[in-house]
Amino acid sequence: MPNTVLVGAQWGDEGKGKIIDVLTAQADLVIRFQGGSNAGHTVIVGGRKHVLHLIPSGILHDGKICLIGNGVVIDPLELLDEMRLLESQGYVVRGRLFVSDRGHAVMSYHRALDAAQEQARAEGRKIGTTGRGIGPGYADKINRAGLRLGDFLAPDFAARVRAHVEAANRELAALHAPALDADAIADRYVTAAAALKPLIVDTVAMVHAADRAGKSLLLEGAQGTMLDIDFGTYPFVTSSNPTAGGACIGSGLSPRRVDRVVGVIKAYTTRVGAGPFPTECMGEDGDLLRARGGEFGATTGRPRRCGWFDAVVGRYAREVNGVDFWAMTKLDVLDTLPGIKICVAYEHAGRRLDTLPADVAVLDACRPVYEEMPGWCCETSHLTRFEDLPTNARAYVARLVELCGGRLGILSVGPGRENTLRLAL
Ligand code: IMP
Repeated sequence: MPNTVLVGAQWGDEGKGKIIDVLTAQADLVIRFQGGSNAGHTVIVGGRKHVLHLIPSGILHDGKICLIGNGVVIDPLELLDEMRLLESQGYVVRGRLFVSDRGHAVMSYHRALDAAQEQARAEGRKIGTTGRGIGPGYADKINRAGLRLGDFLAPDFAARVRAHVEAANRELAALHAPALDADAIADRYVTAAAALKPLIVDTVAMVHAADRAGKSLLLEGAQGTMLDIDFGTYPFVTSSNPTAGGACIGSGLSPRRVDRVVGVIKAYTTRVGAGPFPTECMGEDGDLLRARGGEFGATTGRPRRCGWFDAVVGRYAREVNGVDFWAMTKLDVLDTLPGIKICVAYEHAGRRLDTLPADVAVLDACRPVYEEMPGWCCETSHLTRFEDLPTNARAYVARLVELCGGRLGILSVGPGRENTLRLAL
């Protein structure tokens, strides 16, 4: 398989976990490149549901090597819990999973800061973060004040953790949040460091060696384009670059060594957390999509906001990421609808907009311009060939691809590996 970057094209929760799982069969190395345990990649294997937050979903395939790249913010305690759970289910993790020594740690004080900062935000400015410490973790990285996984092996590690907790306590005090116990936290991370030591390596060198040896690399994005710190609906975004450019920054692979980009896009739209969402359906249609699509957060359990497909977002995601192929997911969720709307443009202050405005206040005021297509009103989950889909379903998918550009590579019509129509990937 050519070196492949896989990204989410909407606000996350596009079903990336399943598509990565499908593509992993052809990859040698799977690499996470950004985000942290805010992600929740759901994969169903043999009827058993796995939700992975930090470990690449490639771990569910025997023999594949999985890397957590330098661009990820890594919660070491969460990582150890996830490893234990997988091991208890019979998966071999050690010897197959490696963590970048350049990756920054998300510590318990980052979580405390995340909660306190969110609490302190005024109504209307709350982001609705996952509470996993992601923003404060990345802030320390950019501020050159972070602890990297490589530091976990240093002789003065415990003292450094204590100093960080004390610094965090000053910030927490300013936010009227309780202080944390520096000694207890340092002890916990010293124990975690010993357990993680064999996994902490120079993953950048591993990526280069694998690429030189002609291995196939699959770079796994978390979240989605519209949550990108640069290209998303700022400030209602995450603190990293889930877009294709982030894959190189977060792994060390040269942009010249990326062969193709796969964009994962749901056949409708969801968003969890606050921020503009032009095609959101507040009534019955939204409830139906949520119920049929099981649209509840894999990490937080929060109900997701649901709405129609937004082709302005799809086009934007194709451009920002250079999407070659789409993996479209959850078409089957639409099986019972008699009519389906597609947002083809926005209307703002009496003008038609075909591109995504940068200002969230403008996006908030945009009204979707819809076209409506007839539904197909029959089950599609059992189908295994694109040609066997009902005519209206094929027409709907074709229209989405036409509006967004690019080519359809995979169409997913159910949660299992078997509910996957392979077209060009
Ligand atoms: P944070 O990444 O926890 O700081 O949250 C920032 C925003 O990104 C919030 O709106 C979250 O709901 C959203 N978010 C973060 N991770 C995910 C994800 O994996 N799927 C969907 N939304 C996410």
